[in-house]
Amino acid sequence: TSMDAELEKLLDTATGADKEVSKKDFEGFKTLFHRFLQVKGPSVEWPKINRPPEDSIQPYEKIAARGLPDSVANSLNKLVVVKLNGGLGTSMGCKGPKSLISVRNENTFLDLTVQQIEHLNKTYNTHVPLVLMNSFNTDEDTKKILQKYTHHRVKIHTFNQSRYPRINKESLLPVATDLGMTGQNADVWYPPGHGDIYGSFYNSGLLDQLIAEGKEYIFVSNIDNLGATVDLHILHHLVSQPNGKRCEFIMEVTDKTRADVKGGTLIQYDGKLRLLEIAQVPKAHVDEFKSVTKFKIFNTNNLWISLDAIKRLQEQNAMEMEIIVNPKTLDGGLNVIQLETAVGAAIKSFENAMGINVPRSRFLPVKTVSDLLLVMSNLYSLEAGSLTMSQKREFPTTPHIKLGSSFNKVQEYQNRFESIPDMLELDHLTVSGDVTFGKQVSLKGTVIIIANHGDRIDIPAGTILENKIVSGNLRI
Ligand code: UTP
Repeated sequence: TSMDAELEKLLDTATGADKEVSKKDFEGFKTLFHRFLQVKGPSVEWPKINRPPEDSIQPYEKIAARGLPDSVANSLNKLVVVKLNGGLGTSMGCKGPKSLISVRNENTFLDLTVQQIEHLNKTYNTHVPLVLMNSFNTDEDTKKILQKYTHHRVKIHTFNQSRYPRINKESLLPVATDLGMTGQNADVWYPPGHGDIYGSFYNSGLLDQLIAEGKEYIFVSNIDNLGATVDLHILHHLVSQPNGKRCEFIMEVTDKTRADVKGGTLIQYDGKLRLLEIAQVPKAHVDEFKSVTKFKIFNTNNLWISLDAIKRLQEQNAMEMEIIVNPKTLDGGLNVIQLETAVGAAIKSFENAMGINVPRSRFLPVKTVSDLLLVMSNLYSLEAGSLTMSQKREFPTTPHIKLGSSFNKVQEYQNRFESIPDMLELDHLTVSGDVTFGKQVSLKGTVIIIANHGDRIDIPAGTILENKIVSGNLRI
């Protein structure tokens, strides 16, 4: 086919070790691309969607109530923590890997992860390793930083996910050849989503190595989810299933609120649990999908998966994930698509998969600077790399924070706060325009601060704002 010919051409431009890697990547890409060409119509038929059976999504509290055995350290020694580290910090205006952004007391996402696992290993005298799935976008910078953890009590492995060619939306051919670009130009390549983990992990040889070391399960999560710590109750539940009902896959889900419209939900389909993402929903049913009454929970992307099962499914070529078609416009205006998959979508391929409905605290993603403000504030305290909500907050819900575009980049944001305001009693904060905060400002209830175009509002040090609107050139 013309795609095959184009890929051959591209491969000719690679040299040395690059060539071997590209060859493997292109094999994977070809499979995905051919599946994409074959797909006709939606991946689900709406009337066939059922609510998951009663016992397939268990409440966390029920699992935790069973308590922990003394042998929990044995279970820990069968566990590997995997963090999805292929993404960049572009949504917060940073260059380089997202995991290297400082989130709390100069600690980066990666620092906090290492501290958490190190604490676990010291407490239980165990050897839980950390595995990072990097992409060509993050590998080099991440590896440089890893040297600083050499003397920490956690063994760190990395492997790289695939690098696939972006394709022209019209011609469906790689833009790399279109644009006459080769090799390093980041615009023409992409990491194909976290569903890539299964193939890349297997191909890297690391999966076999870990199985040989006696490891049985991985706990996978987004590196930007600060709530995704190793939970011993879930681990124990996983390892203690009776033989005939060995659970190969646990997806942590949590109750949806009206603000959570994006995440996928679990459904029963053809007799199996399945992840349903908004992209798969026929237009006529999108509102129904978003509603919190029919689909009550969503995927946190905290997943517990059997290593043996991954190996088996990879070897049988039986890992099934729906293709996500992600359209993009390149800087020059060229419309491209990238074919991706999501790690949770493979749930239907595993035996005895289940969901656990976890407290919201296990889902603490930092996607925007508004999220960053929350986790930097006194709403949370940091202990051994884990953030927990302060006991001093009366309600367990987090305030709703909306920072305007002048806060979009982490650097700008940092310049606007002399110190992070006290937010223990805050419910809602909206800030827009050229606004700065002095030291030790306190925000309570609903606070709205709007500096109109050309104006600037400086909140003086020590100010207490409670249920206040500050706007224009009004002085406080
Ligand atoms: P994103 O930040 O891109 O996803 O990646 P999202 O929109 O919040 O939500 P979901 O989880 O896709 O629904 C989530 C995590 O996956 C990693 C990112 O680094 C981040 O930790 N990721 C994403 C990869 O490792 N590789 C990819 O190709 C994409």
